[in-house]
Amino acid sequence: MFFQELNNIQCKSYLIADTDAGEAAIIDPIESNIDRYLAVLAYHNLKLKFVSDTHTHADHRSACSAIRRLTGAKIFMHETSPQPYVDGRVNDGDMLQVGSISIKVLHTPGHTPDSISFYVNEDRLLTGDVLLIQGTGRSDFAGGDPGDQYDSIITKVFTLPDDTIVFPGHDYRGNTQSTVGIEKSTNPRIAGKTREEYIHIMDNLNLPLPERIQEVLQINQSEVDDDRIKFPLLAELNQILQMEPAVVKTKTAGEAVIIDVRESTEYHGELGHIEGSRLISLAEIPASLDALDSDREKEIILVCRSGARSTTAAAILKGVGFSNVNNLKGGMLAWNKLGFPVEH
Ligand SMILES: [Fe+2]
Repeated sequence: MFFQELNNIQCKSYLIADTDAGEAAIIDPIESNIDRYLAVLAYHNLKLKFVSDTHTHADHRSACSAIRRLTGAKIFMHETSPQPYVDGRVNDGDMLQVGSISIKVLHTPGHTPDSISFYVNEDRLLTGDVLLIQGTGRSDFAGGDPGDQYDSIITKVFTLPDDTIVFPGHDYRGNTQSTVGIEKSTNPRIAGKTREEYIHIMDNLNLPLPERIQEVLQINQSEVDDDRIKFPLLAELNQILQMEPAVVKTKTAGEAVIIDVRESTEYHGELGHIEGSRLISLAEIPASLDALDSDREKEIILVCRSGARSTTAAAILKGVGFSNVNNLKGGMLAWNKLGFPVEH
């Protein structure tokens, strides 16, 4: 196996390649280094089979879509990823193959709901931002949950063999790798801590938000990169009422205006859509404000795949004076999980 961290900065991207088979995968590619990735693939004569983000990133623009356009590589993300253009949605236990290298997907939520770790050839683990070296990723972004993170690390990561090499998504102290055994016994944030102690620590970190978080996160979530769209601030997103699917279900008979902000392929895709919902993709929302003007005083419910893009759309509407905007909590994923009716 040819395995290399490609960025040599605090934010890590990993190349996993089988040079005999001429196949490769890149995990967590960043937009500013695309030329470097293409160069290393060309130099080693590797065909890029897939790219994947361990989670929806808030600190940098993902290069997955751009690389897919340039190389034809597939994009794999977790089932709950809000990204609209994904070739395969993976879940806990799924196996991916790069030449003779086998990669097991572990669902390790906590930093974000869509966080996954990659267990490569049963000897190394790419942990994304769930477990860092002598630390853990923050759990205070939207959808983050310190309890889930504790469970992910304790039950999915720390149950792997002690000599499993850990490669994190970030490192701020110049480390490049650790092992499960070292982190299990010495990681100051989680080693020997109870779940309650861990949650208390994480709830009291009071970390500042990264610069440009809004800009980056929303583009990574939505694939909408348009200067004309002013993305709402986090505080504005937090004000949106998250409505339980069961409540939304009582309002589907014309009581509320239901707007689905996914792409047309998703609206007509496997998750289907709610009967009577209107399709206006997130990118089209700003241009559709005039058409929506007569609904200004009505109850509006925004819908998407996982609830991320639609919360953005809700905040955009609220920001221009719509008074009663709500979001379908958990999106069509939650709706389908409850077995509620859909149209295709
Ligand atoms: Fe992250």
